[in-house]
Amino acid sequence: MKFSRFTTIEEKVHLTDKIFVLRLSCPEIASIAKPGQFVQLRLANYGAYLWPRPFSIHQAKDGIISLTIKRCGAITNRLSRLDKGDNVYTTGPLGNRFNIPSQWKPIYLVAGGVGLPPLHFLCETLLKNGCPAEYIHFFSGAGCADDLFADEEIKSLGVNYILTTDDGSAGVKGFITKPLEEKIAEFINTDISQRPIIYSCGPMPMLKKIAEICSGFECYVSLEQLMPCGWGVCNGCAVKVVNRNNSAVEDERGFRLARVCKEGPMFEASEILWE
Ligand SMILES: Cc1cc2nc3c(=O)[nH]c(=O)nc-3n(C[C@H](O)[C@H](O)[C@H](O)COP(=O)(O)OP(=O)(O)OC[C@H]3O[C@@H](n4cnc5c(N)ncnc54)[C@H](O)[C@@H]3O)c2cc1C
Ligand code: FES
Repeated sequence: MKFSRFTTIEEKVHLTDKIFVLRLSCPEIASIAKPGQFVQLRLANYGAYLWPRPFSIHQAKDGIISLTIKRCGAITNRLSRLDKGDNVYTTGPLGNRFNIPSQWKPIYLVAGGVGLPPLHFLCETLLKNGCPAEYIHFFSGAGCADDLFADEEIKSLGVNYILTTDDGSAGVKGFITKPLEEKIAEFINTDISQRPIIYSCGPMPMLKKIAEICSGFECYVSLEQLMPCGWGVCNGCAVKVVNRNNSAVEDERGFRLARVCKEGPMFEASEILWE
């Protein structure tokens, strides 16, 4: 079920120069939201910018959903200037969710930039469901120390935390795919049942690299595509998929189009035709 209505901003907190949190009062969405799902926000009275924008649900509790948003264009700039008591039109929860494993084994969560919110939500949900903290390895990659957010909250959960920044100003210097690749290499000669499950969200080049590193592993990627309409009618968010759900779905071109807003945003890494 999905809900659409004006919601009130209960709180806005700036975490960095560019990143801020919006807490929206929306009990209907908060009570059913699952990690990996997102909402669409639409600004009232904003002329040309009629189209909604998608944001992952970072937290959902006590009737409030929290979104962590990076200012990068017209709508996110506008959202950053809203305040407590202002309204935004909110639709959700949308999209599929991360699957929670039925038996515990090592779980790698790999976040790039603002790909972190849905994985933080997943991490808290895994712990709530009884997954031992030592099984969870949270890999977080950021551009620089000034881009960091939520890292203290993640560390406080007691999970293994691996941080990289592109410029080395915090954590290890380099891309987060490097330490992931090193950990994955430890499992190359093990049976598939012993191997960790990987969940990731971040920029497309990072996800493509993760799909390559984690080939042969159970690996899920949450895609952040442009979403012109957000409700499945324009095909603007489509990606090429093969072997979706292990069925022969490709057409004569060898692939099928899947809409990230409807069939996603979470896919198995092996079903995406990476280009
Ligand atoms: C399922 C999903 C979940 C998302 N969750 C979050 C989140 O939790 N926090 C967050 O800050 N952002 C998230 N995004 C990205 C967010 O939707 C865009 O940053 C936002 O739409 C930009 O709107 P704008 O009008 O400010 O910028 P625009 O002017 O529309 O775009 C500014 C720049 O960002 C790029 N861009 C815009 N939308 C996307 C997109 N969907 N994917 C990749 N690049 C984009 C544009 O190409 C352009 O270079 C998510 C996207 C998706 C599809
Ligand atoms: S955004 Fe239009 S179909 Fe997905």
